[in-house]
Amino acid sequence: MANFIPEDKIEEIKNAADIVEVVSEYVLLKKTGRNYNGLCPFHSEKTPSFTVSPEKQIFHCFGCNTGGNVFSFLMKQDGLSFPESVRFLARRHGIDLPRPEMTGKMRQQITEKEQLFKVNRYAMDFFHGKLVDGSQGEKAMAYLKRRGFSRKIIDTFHLGYAPDAWDGLLNFLRHKHAPVGLIEKAGLIIARKDSSGFYDRFRNRIIFPILNMSRQTVGFGGRVMDDSLPKYLNSPETPVYNKRRLLYGLYAARNKCREAGAVHIVEGYFDQLALYQRGVENTAATLGTALTPEHIHLMKGFVKKAILIFDSDEAGIKASERSVGMFVREGVDAHVVMLPKGHDPDSFISEFGPEAFYKLTESALEVMSFLMLTAEKKHGLTVSGKLAILEDLRRPLASIDDASARRLYIKELSERLGIDEVAVLEKVREAGAALKKEREIQARRANRFPPADQSMPPPEAFPRKKQTENRLEQQVVSMMLQFPEMLTEIQNTNVLDYFMDEMLLFIGKLILEHPPGNEKGISKLMSMVDDAEKRNILASLSIKEEMWNLRDCRKIISKLINHSPRRHEISLKAQISAAERENNQDLVLKLLGELQEITVLNRKQMDDVLREQ
Ligand code: CTP
Ligand code: MN
Repeated sequence: MANFIPEDKIEEIKNAADIVEVVSEYVLLKKTGRNYNGLCPFHSEKTPSFTVSPEKQIFHCFGCNTGGNVFSFLMKQDGLSFPESVRFLARRHGIDLPRPEMTGKMRQQITEKEQLFKVNRYAMDFFHGKLVDGSQGEKAMAYLKRRGFSRKIIDTFHLGYAPDAWDGLLNFLRHKHAPVGLIEKAGLIIARKDSSGFYDRFRNRIIFPILNMSRQTVGFGGRVMDDSLPKYLNSPETPVYNKRRLLYGLYAARNKCREAGAVHIVEGYFDQLALYQRGVENTAATLGTALTPEHIHLMKGFVKKAILIFDSDEAGIKASERSVGMFVREGVDAHVVMLPKGHDPDSFISEFGPEAFYKLTESALEVMSFLMLTAEKKHGLTVSGKLAILEDLRRPLASIDDASARRLYIKELSERLGIDEVAVLEKVREAGAALKKEREIQARRANRFPPADQSMPPPEAFPRKKQTENRLEQQVVSMMLQFPEMLTEIQNTNVLDYFMDEMLLFIGKLILEHPPGNEKGISKLMSMVDDAEKRNILASLSIKEEMWNLRDCRKIISKLINHSPRRHEISLKAQISAAERENNQDLVLKLLGELQEITVLNRKQMDDVLREQ
């Protein structure tokens, strides 16, 4: 793998970092036998098929077939490159990595993302410095103090101030030898219309740096200190900043979230900070966008419940209607809290304190009940009111994929309204059909314009079918990984020559070249595989617990050799040519005989297939 981190360092880090510990920060794991199980963070599921093996130090999801070692986990979960994931764990375990002076070649090797993280980190430190030292940030500091924010919270969240100049940051970053193209790509500067240069995007604003779950700085929000517009300015989408996949402050909230089993979701930077400062640390904010399934993926590793906090009825109702199906699908309970009129979470907790806030969240309604209640309040329970309620609720109900959950809600609604359940069901079904059509159109549109970052393959892309086709080949690779006693025999019988599946062949050869030795060797093997799909296969074949014995292994090998006439044929033909070249007539004859036999066998198989059709 192309990177300049020495192999022995990678080993050292792999030994220091326990995969169970790392995964546990994202996924609620439960011990079951020798392995740990949990809900897969890489696809939607409600029964756990995500497995972590502490002995082998690998993970595998039986649902979506994703797998790998501790590095691949971080790569997938946080969108890191391999060197990034190595550095991340090194830092955490206090392992020093050589930081060579950057040569041109090395600079190329650092991925673009890493460079963006770095330039963003410089910018964050620049803004923070401007806020806390010197005179330029005095006004901003006073503003934050006036709004009740402590120095501690300012430091914890690296809040900053962008000076009132056109090129303050630009000059600073130039001084750090950051290429202008990179600074522009990070969204920190904007090209002048007359293409005479660039100017700073953020000027004279309070700066909120946005960090991902690995605490890398990915973007910024900036607020004016008066009533001028726009009130907020945010980083544009960049290769590392995607607001549909980020929640402000979640990286800091994670531990408290896990403790409480719940996260508060608010809408503003200041709301998150105000709650956090007053002890409600399990809080994160959306970044001026509606909640997405990716947001729920982010949080569902460590909470069972999300408490959505809204400051106005319409915003709350709209967001709840949109997200109810998503939450049910992801198996996270969503509750809704409405704040008293005129308040947002920041103003509420500043005025009434955390006790009052917790009291409010205790009365939070489960999102579907919240929708029913608000619709009742809005329309009343007259006949036309009931019809209007049904009209409001049929779409959110239809968006719930889970049939039994949907049925329960329909039952509850029909009881509350005193309408026959079948009639409600019919309404929901109509809405469901319309929804399905919309989704199809959306899917078609998405196909035509695929999003740039598709870290999740669509469900049909899971290589399920392929797996059964190559069952015997898989079994052989599996035994190579789990029953190394067979390796010599596998080498001697040349069974790999009969493989049809290129991926499995590659993995098989790799194992022969680098026999894993002990269980941890599998994780090491994984680091040698660049291709994610191959890594997935490797993980899946090593994690399935099978009982191996010599007899069964031999049976599988001979079955594969005898049932793979096509591969056999190719190999025979090659051997024949070789024998001819060597003028070994006896061998040629013997091989020709064998070839004839399997050709007959092939033809017979073909006949069988034709007869079956
Ligand atoms: N927002 C944005 N762009 C805007 C306005 C708002 O991105 N022009 C986002 C910001 O993330 C902001 C959130 O929406 O934090 C909520 O906006 P708003 O309620 O207007 O601001 P507050 O966070 O309450 O900020 P303040 O208390 O300073 O008014
Ligand atoms: Mn506010």
